[in-house]
Amino acid sequence: MANKILVTGGAGYIGSHTSIVLQEAGFEVHIIDNLSNSDAAVMDRIAEITGKIPGFTQLDLCNSEDLHAFFDKHPDIAGVIHFAAHKSVNESSTYPLKYYHNNLTGTINLLQAMQRANCHNLVFSSSCTVYGQPDQLPVSEDAPLKKAFSPYGNTKRMCEEIIHDQAEADSLQAVALRYFNPIGAHHSARIGELPVGIPNNLVPYLTQTAAGKRDSLKVFGQDYDTHDGTGIRDYIHVVDLAEAHLKAISRLLEQKNKEAFEVFNLGTGTGYSVLDIIKTFEKVSGVRVTHEITDRRAGDIEKVWADPAKANRELGWKARFGLDDMLRSAWAWEQSLASRNDS
Ligand code: UFG
Repeated sequence: MANKILVTGGAGYIGSHTSIVLQEAGFEVHIIDNLSNSDAAVMDRIAEITGKIPGFTQLDLCNSEDLHAFFDKHPDIAGVIHFAAHKSVNESSTYPLKYYHNNLTGTINLLQAMQRANCHNLVFSSSCTVYGQPDQLPVSEDAPLKKAFSPYGNTKRMCEEIIHDQAEADSLQAVALRYFNPIGAHHSARIGELPVGIPNNLVPYLTQTAAGKRDSLKVFGQDYDTHDGTGIRDYIHVVDLAEAHLKAISRLLEQKNKEAFEVFNLGTGTGYSVLDIIKTFEKVSGVRVTHEITDRRAGDIEKVWADPAKANRELGWKARFGLDDMLRSAWAWEQSLASRNDS
């Protein structure tokens, strides 16, 4: 079976973990990334972990000529996993056009290049943000899609629709994976999330606070209708997420998909509150996290967690890691960053 996989955005957080899992499963990986929010040194880390350096081309998906030239040079690509996108919820509200331009243009250019190159298998990195605040929990794939709370979220929904339309019209076979909240890092602590500047997301902010880089973690609101008043999310280990991508691309390559466009929720099925996360982190790390309750953050939903039954059944995938593992690995990664900075 042809086994070369193109990973767009493969130098980023989820893309790099997925590239490792693909290589470990025997796939040949070629990463394209414009390095706007990542570092080419990630290739060396992947090589340290897997014993093999992935192919790498610095390329911006918004440049369609470069993309066509890339596919001309690599006619043997069997499938594509598409991560490359801007991903800051906050920033997208300030610069919506930057997000619509980059995320939509990049996806359309990729689909055009794949069509021209007769490459028909695509896994798309989507998000549970397409459900907004769902009416029913846990949320399954047939829950109605809602206008997202951010332009970033809208780009995920719109890209799904573009891919779906193309799959209906042409020979494209596609899977959209709707992630809940990815956290944690590879157990080697050689790769992990590298937020630029002040983190927006809970776990990087928490580990930076524990490491003394931030004074205090702000807990955004304690007046939600949840067991302790703080927001609930379905956190999932990034390595579990990476393994789901391997299952999804294999399903397409083995032509086991049931429809030309399929979607799967990727979560554990269990929701944890912000205070649950802080308590569990303190337990596994032995480090106290200074925190304070503040107002709600604009745009946050109250609670969401996945019904992952379809992914369990159809992809043969199930999250393996629990919250302790996720937070332990996030802490090991934060500590490894601190020791690198010291040396
Ligand atoms: N939170 C805090 N303090 C912080 C950061 C977050 O209390 O400093 C809380 C939030 O209010 C929320 C929870 O922690 O209740 C998780 O917040 P994150 O920012 O970590 O994650 P979100 O659920 O807001 O966003 C994530 C992804 C997005 C994706 C979205 C889909 O980061 O890419 O899930 O719901 F769109």
